[in-house]
Amino acid sequence: MIYTVTLNPALDKTVEIPSLTVNAVNRITTMRTDPGGKGINVSKVIAKLGGKSIATGILGGGTGRAILSALKDLELTTSFHFVEGETRTNMKIIDPVQHTNTDINEPGVTVSEEILHELLEELLENLTAKDIVVISGSMPKGSPQDTYYTWTKACREKGAKVILDADGDLLKAGLMASPYLIKPNNHELSSLVGRTLTTPEELAKTARELMEQYGISKIIVSMGGDGALYVTGSETLYAEGLKVPVGSTVGAGDSVVAALAVAEEAGMSLSDTVCLSTATGAANVMCSGTQAAEYSVIQELLPKVVFHQIEI
Ligand SMILES: Nc1ncnc2c1ncn2[C@@H]1O[C@H](COP(=O)(O)OP(=O)(O)OP(=O)(O)O)[C@@H](O)[C@H]1O
Ligand SMILES: [Mg+2]
Repeated sequence: MIYTVTLNPALDKTVEIPSLTVNAVNRITTMRTDPGGKGINVSKVIAKLGGKSIATGILGGGTGRAILSALKDLELTTSFHFVEGETRTNMKIIDPVQHTNTDINEPGVTVSEEILHELLEELLENLTAKDIVVISGSMPKGSPQDTYYTWTKACREKGAKVILDADGDLLKAGLMASPYLIKPNNHELSSLVGRTLTTPEELAKTARELMEQYGISKIIVSMGGDGALYVTGSETLYAEGLKVPVGSTVGAGDSVVAALAVAEEAGMSLSDTVCLSTATGAANVMCSGTQAAEYSVIQELLPKVVFHQIEI
C-alpha cells in the first residue's frame, strides 16, 4: 500500500475578481475549491493512475470536514486525525484584467507533539516492508523541526520505503534518516548544498554525492519545463520536458511523486518510470489549479517522452 502523509493540508479556494481593488467591495465572478496539501495532491494523482493509496494527516474544524468530504467524493481512502482548530483555507485571487495573482493564506491548526506521536504510531501499526510512505509538504505550527527525521526513521525501521518531498530545513532533517527516494527540484537541491546548480551534469553529480553521503537509493531532480534527472545506484538519465500548453504548474512536482510511488510499487523498469512520471507531470501542467489530469491524457503523452543517459 502507498500511504501519503499531509500534516498541513489546506482547502485551496481559487477565485476570479476582475480589477481587484483594496479599500473597496470586490465581487467574485467565478470560484472553485479543491482539497489541497502536497500529500493529498499525490493521493489524487495516484487514483487517476489507477493506483490505491491511504491519505493520512491532520485536519481540523469545518474546513477539515469539507476536505474529508471532498476526498470521499473522489473515492479516496483516508485516515486523518481531527484536532482542535481550523484547517487553513488558502485563497488564490486571479485578476484577469490586471493579470495579477494574489494569495491570502490562513494560519491553520497548531499541533502538539502528542498528536504527531499518536498519528505516527497509528501509521506504524499496519506498516510492512511492502509499503511506501510519501511524506511531503510543510508542517503545522507546533511541530518539532526534526519531525520528518522521526517519521522517516520510524517508517524505515518497519522496512517501508520512504519518499520524501520537502524543502529547506525539513528536507535537511529528513535526509539524516536516509529516505529511500527524494524529489527536490533544481532550486531546492541548490539551496540544500548552498550553491547554484544549473546544468543537468552539475545537478546529477550533486545528487549522486548526496546519495552516497546520506544512504539514499534514488534522487529525482525535477527541473520544471526542462524535465528531470533520474539518479539511481547504477544509472543517470535525463528526461527532456514535454512541450505542452501550460494551464497551471502548481502541483507538477506532486504528480511526479505520485507516478514515482506507483512505479515503485509496481516494480517498473527505470525507463518505464521515467516515461510515466514525465508524462504525468506534463499532463498535470495542462490542467488548471491542482486538478489531477485524466489517465487518457497521460497515456497520449507516454510515447512522446525523450530521455538519454548522461555522463558525470
Ligand atoms: N512548463 C512545463 N512543461 C512541461 N512539463 C512541465 C512543466 N513544468 C513542470 N513540468 C513537469 O513536471 C515536473 C515537475 O515540475 P517542477 O520541477 O516544477 O516540480 P516542483 O517544483 O516540485 O513543483 P511543485 O512542488 O509546485 O509541485 C517536471 O519534471 C516536468 O516533467
Ligand atoms: Mg515540489
